[in-house]
Amino acid sequence: MKGSEGNGVKLVVAGGAGFIGSNFIRYVLGAREDWRVVNVDKLTYAGNLANLKGLESDDRYRFIRADICDAPRIEEIVSTERPDAIVNFAAETHVDRSISDPALFLRTNVLGTQVLLETARKLEVARYVQISTDEVYGSLGKEGKFSEGSPLRPNSPYAASKTAADLLVRAWFKTYGVPGIVTRCSNNYGPFQFPEKIIPFFITLLHEDKQVPVYGDGMNVRDWIHVDDHSRAIEAVILRGQPGEVYNIGGGNERTNIEITKLLLSAMGKPESMMKFVPDRPGHDRRYAIDDAKTRRELGVAPRVPFEEGLRETVRWYLENEAWWRAVKSGEYLKFFDLWYTREGRT
Ligand code: NAD
Ligand code: TYD
Repeated sequence: MKGSEGNGVKLVVAGGAGFIGSNFIRYVLGAREDWRVVNVDKLTYAGNLANLKGLESDDRYRFIRADICDAPRIEEIVSTERPDAIVNFAAETHVDRSISDPALFLRTNVLGTQVLLETARKLEVARYVQISTDEVYGSLGKEGKFSEGSPLRPNSPYAASKTAADLLVRAWFKTYGVPGIVTRCSNNYGPFQFPEKIIPFFITLLHEDKQVPVYGDGMNVRDWIHVDDHSRAIEAVILRGQPGEVYNIGGGNERTNIEITKLLLSAMGKPESMMKFVPDRPGHDRRYAIDDAKTRRELGVAPRVPFEEGLRETVRWYLENEAWWRAVKSGEYLKFFDLWYTREGRT
């Protein structure tokens, strides 16, 4: 990347209107005064320009509405913008939705990635970063952790589509020399997460005095990382990551779903009777745990946000931003886009 300090980097960020993408854009424009970001997002149900409110007036930032599966449009955008790197967050991301509509996941997550890789190849983009997930490794028993060399054993349609995308990045590197890098991160939490994922889903339910549905026996384990720690790691990958490599990113913070639920109940002053057990998710992975030694060693980055503190702040954020999640839950924000954004005649 442009010098070892990464001066004046221009990014095309695909999927920057979702949870992690929007937090990353805010983070990177805050941390790097001379970086520029072009956010390319289709604005599906999960994409929301309210996540980026305030950046419209920042001349280092631009939004373009486009589908990563639309090859001519993506090529036109990348050939006009001439970025130093493409960072791909765009995806269908919810495991439960992938169980009911797998075809959509294959279209966006696999074909969309192929379109971006092909564009990077044709237009000789200097870096391509694929934001992937620990779910590609499948499920662990009580012992061990996923390292970058662990076998890929996805169990849900979502995880299988993300795995396919990772393998495309590898193939485009080996065959065509596209300088692709894959990051595999564990479960993120923080502000602006769509309230279908467990933490914001439960916070918003509890706020409405509704019971929260814990799948199965609630003993499934996830490794939670604050989204800002993920953003810092992606910045390090853009600056110091090596093409052809995979980097694991984790929080070093394993929790059962029951523990998460109890922490949320306590933070919101609700009794344990608000927790109800419901039938398990099919193919539900038992445990994820990340070995991030390579990322720490080679990129010099590690998580910083203590979990209890990050979770408390996240609960506070949802309580203080009720208008945001109410609009998201009602689908209002989609109408908002159609009404004013397209009327303004923007792209
Ligand atoms: P999200 O669902 O909140 O956001 C996805 C974004 O992609 C939305 O803005 C959506 O509009 C956009 N998008 C979807 N289809 C598109 C298309 N065809 N063209 C252009 N844009 C499209 O997801 P997230 O939680 O922010 O996850 C972002 C990325 O990080 C995903 O690739 C996901 O697999 C990965 N990841 C997520 C987690 C997590 O805990 N959330 C953990 C590890 C990795
Ligand atoms: P989720 O937030 O959907 O993320 P992922 O499946 O990508 O890890 O789920 C996190 C964990 O919480 C997972 O073990 C499933 C569980 N879960 C529930 O128990 N109840 C729920 O309503 C949801 C959405 C998830």
